Amino acid sequence: MNYQIKSIEEYKETYKYSIENPEEFWAEIANNFIWHKKWDKVLEWNFTEPKVEWYKGAKLNITENCLDRHLEKLKDKTAIIWEPNNPEEKTRNITYGELHKDVCRFANVLKNNGVKKGDRICIYMPMIPELTVAILACARIGAIHSVVFGGFSSKSIADRIVDAQCSMVITADGVYRGNKLIALKNIVDEALRNCNTIKKVIVYKRIGNNVVMNNETDVWWHDEFEKADKICAAEIMDAEDMLFILYTSGSTGKPKGVVHTIAGYMVFASYTFANVFQYESNEIFFCTADIGWVTGHTYIVYGPLLTGATCLMFEGIPTYPDAGRLWQVVEKHKVNTLYTAPTAIRSLMQAGIEFVNGKNLDTLKKLGSVGEPINEEAWHWYNTNIGKGKCPIVDTWWQTETGGIMISPLAGITPTIPSFAMLPLPGIQLAIVNTQGEELKGNDVSGDLCIKFPWPGILRTTYGNHERCRTNYFATYKNMYYTGDGCIRDINGYYRITGRADDVLKVSGHRIGTAEVENAIDLHHNVIESAVVAFPHNIKGQGIYAFVICSNETKDFEKLKSEITNLVSEEIGSFAKPERIQFVNGLPKTRSGKIMRRILRKIAVGETENLGDTTTLLDPAIVEEICKVIL
Ligand code: WT7
Repeated sequence: MNYQIKSIEEYKETYKYSIENPEEFWAEIANNFIWHKKWDKVLEWNFTEPKVEWYKGAKLNITENCLDRHLEKLKDKTAIIWEPNNPEEKTRNITYGELHKDVCRFANVLKNNGVKKGDRICIYMPMIPELTVAILACARIGAIHSVVFGGFSSKSIADRIVDAQCSMVITADGVYRGNKLIALKNIVDEALRNCNTIKKVIVYKRIGNNVVMNNETDVWWHDEFEKADKICAAEIMDAEDMLFILYTSGSTGKPKGVVHTIAGYMVFASYTFANVFQYESNEIFFCTADIGWVTGHTYIVYGPLLTGATCLMFEGIPTYPDAGRLWQVVEKHKVNTLYTAPTAIRSLMQAGIEFVNGKNLDTLKKLGSVGEPINEEAWHWYNTNIGKGKCPIVDTWWQTETGGIMISPLAGITPTIPSFAMLPLPGIQLAIVNTQGEELKGNDVSGDLCIKFPWPGILRTTYGNHERCRTNYFATYKNMYYTGDGCIRDINGYYRITGRADDVLKVSGHRIGTAEVENAIDLHHNVIESAVVAFPHNIKGQGIYAFVICSNETKDFEKLKSEITNLVSEEIGSFAKPERIQFVNGLPKTRSGKIMRRILRKIAVGETENLGDTTTLLDPAIVEEICKVIL
């Protein structure tokens, strides 16, 4: 990698150069990859449609960059160290050579089962190396992967399959996460009752639980693998062909299929991985995210493999068999970089220092945080007890839509301040704007965080609905990408993200739209209307508080509460369950019918005085009533 920045001076110079010469800058980075044909034009863009095209005219296959090109030097290097859920089960090590073979062979399995370039493939799998194999096999033959997080319900899977018109599902029989069995195949079967585009289901046997195989559609991974040819030439793709779709929540009820394209995402994933984590050969990188979220796509699969790194993949959860599990995994595999989420840090902090004591964490050199703002207490605990005061912490701000890290310290190079993401990466042009859409120049300002200029990892569209992409991200502020986050630039020019400024929640780092939860709650026949807001939660970051108007027939409120939470689990997944439900007779609405969440947010934290201006409310008496009655 000759694009790794090595000092703060070099960062400053590189940043300046990248802003003044963005095309030259991103072309130089792109020269580090292998292409079947180089681009005709580095960048073509406008944020009004929006249209963004990077490396237009170039031809490539991302898997050749992840695998084939490393074979000469890194064939026997471990690509994936896999740690199972159950510590008694055996660890697996997969070399670059082996991963290459498996990907080629499974790519032929896909072809043998009718998959063609451009087809959308839904992947609903445990955190096992075969998930990486499935993803890369899609990319090898030009199919578009849509990975669905294993915690989503069958209803959510069905919605995603229908939206993307997927023709295949790749899944497993089941998996244990902690003590809990998740019957993946059964959940898929349930989902498929409401989908008619799926022609084949490939099932990996992970734990041997009972599954029903449908003769017409379902095949076993191992049977197909046996039959498949070992050699699979990479499909030659266009730079702007779709690589994947990943669904994420916004302020409307329906999740959006964020689309990333091949070349730009590749360059950005690799560049950000190498620079933020300052990856050095022979280091072991451990990202605890699930591949069902973008963090896993970019920093378990693509970023590390593109860089020739060794990445640890963990099937389990931080608290099983006990709250020392992550530290034990770090010790066992001699991890050098640990990249995790504030919610995990907080829950392990609460579990107690005894779970850290006695674990040898000496190999750790760098720590990372992602997914939500990290509070200072958690930052200090992480720094002192895990990093022992000698590991730089990179607080990385980014989004599903940005493809990779946008604002972050470079480990060991940029200074760090607790709860600050610090500085933009080269090529990233930030703007803080006020509600009038004016850019606030200079330091010591706060407002909405926007991005003024495209970067290679930017989303290209929302699948099947480009207008939605425009209105969501490019219509709020003219000629800018709007992130949805609030942000401060302090007196020294360092950035601090203050959290979502829209109707998006971050519960244990999971992104959930208030409208999605409300839609689920409103399905109950005894519910008339609901409004969902976040309240501060000391482990999850945010918890869900639902205000619900129910019908007169309701007799048993406790029963209704549990039916409502079950409904949310079925519709979305159990991670989206409301923690608190309050029954009310009305909701504070403006005369135009908009729910005033600002007021509900205050009530949710028990603040019933100083509710701010309530004069625009249709019926101010409602507020008093909500404050009084807490069922
Ligand atoms: C939202 C994006 C980034 C990949 C995983 C989440 C919040 C993310 C940080 C951070 C403060 C953060 C933002 C952002 N967020 N990282 N370091 N500090 N907030 O991706 O699910 O698309 O969520 O997560 O609110 O908009 P996502």
